[in-house]
Amino acid sequence: MAVIQEHAKKRIKEIVASHKDEPTPLLVVLSQIQQEFGYIPLEVQEVVSEEMNIPVAEIYGVVTFYSFFSLKPKGKYIIGVCLGTACYVKGSQNIIDKFCELLKIRPGETTPDGLFTVDALRCIGACAIAPAVTINGKVYANLTVDRVEKIIKEYEGGAN
Ligand code: FES
Repeated sequence: MAVIQEHAKKRIKEIVASHKDEPTPLLVVLSQIQQEFGYIPLEVQEVVSEEMNIPVAEIYGVVTFYSFFSLKPKGKYIIGVCLGTACYVKGSQNIIDKFCELLKIRPGETTPDGLFTVDALRCIGACAIAPAVTINGKVYANLTVDRVEKIIKEYEGGAN
């Protein structure tokens, strides 16, 4: 098991203590940890498990079930490419492939400089503007492969 720093452990204990009386404390606790730490690795799950008296397997199940939780650190810009049916039939596979090719990573990975993560998403409810891509919450409609490079350059330039 990797060693978790004392101040991080202390903060996790504080988060758990502050939510212990809520009806669904685990989800709230994990959401706050995700927000503050950016990800929820196994060693953090182990602290939560001890503090909440919930098996690690159960916590792991929750973290891996919801796409807004992450086991690994994410990039500054999270590119979510919808691969739901409506987007898929309009070519979203080619779009995610292009992002991955230009950034030299695979879906789910983060660039070594920590700038970009590419995630494959299920339907994000924007089928009318398929294929849809989100970057840190900003939605790109009717995206085409030839716009991908320009979008990456804008973010690399810090324009967004
Ligand atoms: S399938 Fe992509 S937004 Fe619905």
